[in-house]
Amino acid sequence: MAGLISLVLLGLLIAYIVLKPSRYNGHTTGKGVPIHILVLGDIGRSPRMTYHALSIAKHGGKVKLIGYLETSPHPDILTHPNITLIPLPTPPSRPPSVPFLLFAPIKVIFQILHLSYLLLYLLPPSAWLLVQNPPSIPTLAIASLTSYLRNSHLIIDWHNYGWTILSSTRGPSHPFVSLSKIYETYLGRLGSHHLTVTNAMARQLRAAPYSIPPHKPMISVHDRPAAIFQPILSPDARNEALDKILFPSGREYYRALVSGKMKLLVSSTSWTPDEDFSLLLSALTMYAARPDAVPILALITGKGPQKEYYDDKIDALVKEGKLPNVRIATLFLPFEDYARLLACADLGVCLHMSSSGVDLPMKVVDMFGAGLPVVAYGGYESFGELVKEGVNGRGFETGEELAGVLGELLKPEGENELKHLKKGAVEEGRRRWDEEWDGTVGRLMGFIEESS
Ligand SMILES: *[C@@H]1O[C@H](CO)[C@@H](O)[C@H](O)[C@H]1NC(C)=O
Repeated sequence: MAGLISLVLLGLLIAYIVLKPSRYNGHTTGKGVPIHILVLGDIGRSPRMTYHALSIAKHGGKVKLIGYLETSPHPDILTHPNITLIPLPTPPSRPPSVPFLLFAPIKVIFQILHLSYLLLYLLPPSAWLLVQNPPSIPTLAIASLTSYLRNSHLIIDWHNYGWTILSSTRGPSHPFVSLSKIYETYLGRLGSHHLTVTNAMARQLRAAPYSIPPHKPMISVHDRPAAIFQPILSPDARNEALDKILFPSGREYYRALVSGKMKLLVSSTSWTPDEDFSLLLSALTMYAARPDAVPILALITGKGPQKEYYDDKIDALVKEGKLPNVRIATLFLPFEDYARLLACADLGVCLHMSSSGVDLPMKVVDMFGAGLPVVAYGGYESFGELVKEGVNGRGFETGEELAGVLGELLKPEGENELKHLKKGAVEEGRRRWDEEWDGTVGRLMGFIEESS
């Protein structure tokens, strides 16, 4: 393994000597300034990097947005004259027979070779390189090498920590966990500018083990809903939107939902182990067992590895008669329909369990944008930076608590509290990304005058 990695490094060194990458020496802000945005993930499922790209492009920066094209990206990205998409080739996926420990390094080497070729040679140099972290491997290494060799400012946008995610999926004692922690904390310091998703995260990054020095600018940029997420406040408009979403497969629920006899619950998940979907399933089972349970249609949106596993589990619970009055459907919706669904729903459920304790779930931000109050898992430090208990949502930590909150809010006597929470959600969703961005990143990158 060490031999293989040394070979790759040697190859990179020779390539560097032969093909010496050009350096950036133009202006660093204003119209036409070239900016690379790198996300080692699906662009369509990277809303925050999408919004960064749109904001920079709106202020006249020329953006190259680099990432995987798996689901369809935000429509504005595709048509914006100042944004060019640079799709990355999908890395080979792991056959089930190959162990993770063997496969992961092969995939990483593939990514290193392709990314360094792309960033160091194929693309012209840029004034700024904005990278999303995580994934940290190999992004942080390639990005810091690129910014050093090509004279670009490196902005790291910290969404979370790669090593805490790895620790929650592979177990804290997995050999990669401590290795990736050292890697991430060391290379993280090489960014010249830092963005974080919460204030709590910014505080943490200044302290050990991250220890980002005080002279490097760091600002928290809270996620904000995109313009596409808007509340639907008139009943007629809601009925029309419901009709669009439920056609044709959910027609039978339309009347019950319109009359309020049935409640519409929405949850979106990436079907990964850092969201314990079984928590919602067990809560819905407990809820269904109540004699006074108001019928629920629970729509679970999203794509991901554990979906089939849970589809089978749901089927089994239905067969056993454990979900009377609760109908659960899993689906994947295009962006517009998803936004519409959030605006029509009665309650959003979020199962995000922060592995770092200091990130926040984007889906709750979007729910607020659509004026949808939430019931969210709340057992982590930064939770209160987004969900205000009893104002725009409610928190829970166990399946019993979730079932209890659902019972309280969905029964007819809960109507007033639900209305109150909805008001809070609409209020919270009013502040939008453009405002947030202009006041933070826009100033940091010099697109917005300090004095304005
Ligand atoms: C694209 O960038 C130019 C300047 O480079 C700017 O004048 C124009 O408004 C931008 N286009 C859009 C649609 O934002």
